[in-house]
Amino acid sequence: MEIKYFLKKEKAFELMAKIIIEKVIEKPNVVLGLATGGTFEKVYENVICLSKIKNVNFSKVFTFNLDEYVNLKQELYKNSYHFYMDNNLFNFININHDNIHFPCNFQNNYNSGELFQDYDKKIHDIGGIEIQLLGLGANGHIGFNEPGSKIDSITRCIELSHTTIKDNSRYFQSINDVPKKAVTMGLKTIIDNSKMIYLLAFGENKRDALKRLIDSKGFDPNYPVTILKNFKNLIIFTDLKFN
Ligand code: PGA
Repeated sequence: MEIKYFLKKEKAFELMAKIIIEKVIEKPNVVLGLATGGTFEKVYENVICLSKIKNVNFSKVFTFNLDEYVNLKQELYKNSYHFYMDNNLFNFININHDNIHFPCNFQNNYNSGELFQDYDKKIHDIGGIEIQLLGLGANGHIGFNEPGSKIDSITRCIELSHTTIKDNSRYFQSINDVPKKAVTMGLKTIIDNSKMIYLLAFGENKRDALKRLIDSKGFDPNYPVTILKNFKNLIIFTDLKFN
């Protein structure tokens, strides 16, 4: 585990974008694992900017998004992660839309616990994910693997925790509009298939969760991020300092 401290998070967003762009230039058919949330808006803004400057070809790149809401009302489609990705990245690069993957359709309803083995199989069959981007929930989730997630969890439909619903309500008019369920890559899916993981965590509300990871001796299901403790190729970008 390597921790890179940034005084200004903008520098981290720039560096993350540079790493992605350099990888796409080096390996045009690279497989990327993509995250959403506030943290990645600026990363993708920098990716778009650099891709224009360097005239980068994304047409052979494959992407697998970490998660997606379930049973989102039609009028709230702008809150879907499909829309987020189009609006923050895909519409501004020459990606082939056949190469974009999400774990589910946000308009469909699924039962919590329902497994999405096909998603894991697709990721596995393509040879895994070269660069996996991860944000960090204040409650220690990665993707939507909420506290209580199992070490061997695969892609599945999960009920969102109250903390997550509250945190994400800032994107909705009312907290009642926030979906109660999502489909997320599992912890095992992430660990087994990623070659390199970048975890980005900025702001005081992430301190506790990040400290749990740093101090952990092994996996603690109450803080799913601790699954990363023994992952060799993990780089953490943060503006938090720990003594
Ligand atoms: P954020 O979300 O980037 O909006 O803080 C991170 C997460 O919940 O994974």
